[in-house]
Amino acid sequence: MSQVSDAAEATGAAVSPPLIQVRNASRSFRLGSETVYAVRNVSLDIHRNRFITLVGRSGSGKTTLLNLLAGLDHPNDGEVFFDDRDLAAFSEKEMIHLRRNRIGVVFQSFALLPLLSAYENVELPLRIAGVGAGERSRRTQEVLEMVGLTRRAKHRPFELSGGEQQRISIARAVAIQPDIILADEPTGELDSTNASHIFGLFQQMTRDRGMTIVATTHDRTLLDMADEIYEISDGMLTQRALEGTDPADLFQRPES
Ligand SMILES: Nc1ncnc2c1ncn2[C@@H]1O[C@H](COP(=O)(O)OP(=O)(O)OP(=O)(O)O)[C@@H](O)[C@H]1O
Ligand SMILES: [Mg+2]
Repeated sequence: MSQVSDAAEATGAAVSPPLIQVRNASRSFRLGSETVYAVRNVSLDIHRNRFITLVGRSGSGKTTLLNLLAGLDHPNDGEVFFDDRDLAAFSEKEMIHLRRNRIGVVFQSFALLPLLSAYENVELPLRIAGVGAGERSRRTQEVLEMVGLTRRAKHRPFELSGGEQQRISIARAVAIQPDIILADEPTGELDSTNASHIFGLFQQMTRDRGMTIVATTHDRTLLDMADEIYEISDGMLTQRALEGTDPADLFQRPES
């Protein structure tokens, strides 16, 4: 797969259609007489096996855009396609399948269940997805080890630090082995060592496990680890040149 995509990269051609395609999507919210434009006319192709970061100031529209990518919210204008199908046309049943099996979300607020242990928080989605007991336990232990929290497995969220809770929510998303992980500020609570460990993990998962990752961040020191960087400002998206990349290369891709 990586050979194919390397070849594609060399020729500038896309091998397969993007996993997610955003076409002229806008999302606004009405608050009384005021309209807030959170995402404005965004078009974006998310290709498989890419690690993409999204930077932007607080209130720039990062969470709103991730919610559109996840199908947790829909644009007022424009479309979001997952695997070539308009997310707005998915039935409730299909949406449930998508969220259980194909899209892993790491929420900015972690969204851990307070009465369950760290281990149980990671294992529950696997149970819901129908993964058998042996495989469940194997995967849960594996991802807890990946995020360095094996020794915290029995703790409940309130017994964990913010950064530990954050790592549990990352482990939970990784465990379901989704096609794509959409991670909202996944390193917001982490020190620089743990933050670069998590981004290293994301890098590794796109290379070795065929995953696709979109992560928002405020931390500019982490950006270079990504394959593509987008900046969002006032709801509008621009692609940024990677360090050492000729900015002209960015404009070879049709989505730019
Ligand atoms: N449900 C909502 N109702 C009204 N306005 C909203 C809603 N959700 C987001 N907004 C507004 O849309 C804009 C973008 O919000 P969003 O949460 O996407 O920003 P963000 O980039 O994720 O910020 P942060 O870095 O602080 O998490 C903000 O001005 C916000 O106030
Ligand atoms: Mg946000």
